Amino acid sequence: MAVYIFLALGAVLVLCVCTALLRWNEVRYMKRGLPPGTMGWPVFGETTEFLKQGPNFMKNQSARYGSFFKSHILGCPTIVSMDPEVNRYILMNEAKGLVPGYPQSMLDILGKRNIAAVHGASHKHMRGALLALVSPTMIRDQLLPKIDRFMRSHLAHWDDGSIIDLQDKTKQMALLSSLMQIGIDCSSISQQFIPEFFKLVLGTLSLPIDLPGTNYRRGFQARKNILGMLRKLIEERRASQEAHNDMLGSLMRSADNKYQLNDEEIIDQIITVMYSGYETVSTTSMMAVKYLHDSPSVLHKLREEHLGIRAKKRPEDPIDWEDLKAMPFTRAVIFETSRLATVVNGVLRKTTKDMELNGFLIPKGWRIYVYTREINYNPRLYPDPLAFNPWRWLDKNVECRNYNLIFGGGTRQCPGKELGIAEISTFLHYFVTRYRWEEIGGDKLMKFPRVEAPNGLHIRVSPSC
Ligand code: HEM
Repeated sequence: MAVYIFLALGAVLVLCVCTALLRWNEVRYMKRGLPPGTMGWPVFGETTEFLKQGPNFMKNQSARYGSFFKSHILGCPTIVSMDPEVNRYILMNEAKGLVPGYPQSMLDILGKRNIAAVHGASHKHMRGALLALVSPTMIRDQLLPKIDRFMRSHLAHWDDGSIIDLQDKTKQMALLSSLMQIGIDCSSISQQFIPEFFKLVLGTLSLPIDLPGTNYRRGFQARKNILGMLRKLIEERRASQEAHNDMLGSLMRSADNKYQLNDEEIIDQIITVMYSGYETVSTTSMMAVKYLHDSPSVLHKLREEHLGIRAKKRPEDPIDWEDLKAMPFTRAVIFETSRLATVVNGVLRKTTKDMELNGFLIPKGWRIYVYTREINYNPRLYPDPLAFNPWRWLDKNVECRNYNLIFGGGTRQCPGKELGIAEISTFLHYFVTRYRWEEIGGDKLMKFPRVEAPNGLHIRVSPSC
């Protein structure tokens, strides 16, 4: 009996402590002028609920508190904004103190001169240099021929009878294709580079705990190794004086670049290009194939577009700029895939001073999660939102609408948008003209916090007749 009383008292005590902690945390953040919302547990906030329930957590909170509410997720007091107008304002007004708010591990590992770490004039300069690297002329003359050559060989022999993991293949594709565009395609360097890059990516997604064995420590070490390899490559190129028609070559050729960068900036720029295009391009490519598999009428229309382009060419002719422009349906498939899969759930900002936003007072240092996912499923903006319907994008105006934040918006809108679309389009061209495929089935797909197939996405590929 005494044991039961003791246990009951213990349970009541735990309950009281938990309630007091929750209450204390709410009171701590009960500053006047903050938007409504809950702050969860001290230190951990509502991170567990956010990660476990994902989009449902956001939906529930917005049902209770509206489209602009406070929370405490991923270690920071955070404002979640789901209002299209407010989101647009936030993205357009970096100069008013709404700078990128990406996690510390990401900033540490991607470098001080990484584009997300710089603001104001420095950001303008780094962005200008990057836009020059991926301009339409660069895509047409330098990058697309490389992408075409790469895709042709990467997509060879997928029909040798064995089952392939599409997730693996599209990840390799995105990484190797960007290594080639940058100029790190000589096999001896890329062999060392690739494993270090994977450690770097993992490090950016970890907690910044600098202890032996942590992903953060490994990621940081990987950054150091990558710096060493890139410095050596830059020195070798300077010594050889040979001209290179690739991204590294363009960044090093200060004469034809009005945005001159020093070596530290060149290296961070290279890491940025690889990092930003890796998961976005690979996941969109994988999900496009997945949706095409599930939507025979879309696949039929897409294949028609690509067979039409092929019919006017010899088998060895590459895809060129004019061909890319003749792929409106492919572009629509890419946008529809990005919308429905929501490869990017939103973007992060932080306040550099106390400020008024949407009628509330937001303290300095708070993070703002510009959560764009729900916009993608809004039936008023996208009728029948859960249907995979690329036709909705064929009216060009849909792509340009204010609420379309698939590639971000404002001063940080994705500079690699057209490059990413060119890569995915070329991938789809060779894939749908060469092959047919079926899913093995049973593979799990996760949509949150990242879109991924935890055990791979397996398909059996056969030649297209
Ligand atoms: C389907 C492919 C892609 C998607 C969906 C995508 C999406 C995005 C989004 C949403 C942002 C805004 C981030 C923010 O506001 O904080 C962004 C920024 C960025 N993206 Fe992409 N991206 C893609 C491909 C690429 C590629 C291939 C590159 C390579 C050059 C790239 C480079 C960047 C860079 C450097 C930024 C930061 C720009 C800045 O801070 O000024 N992206 N991207």
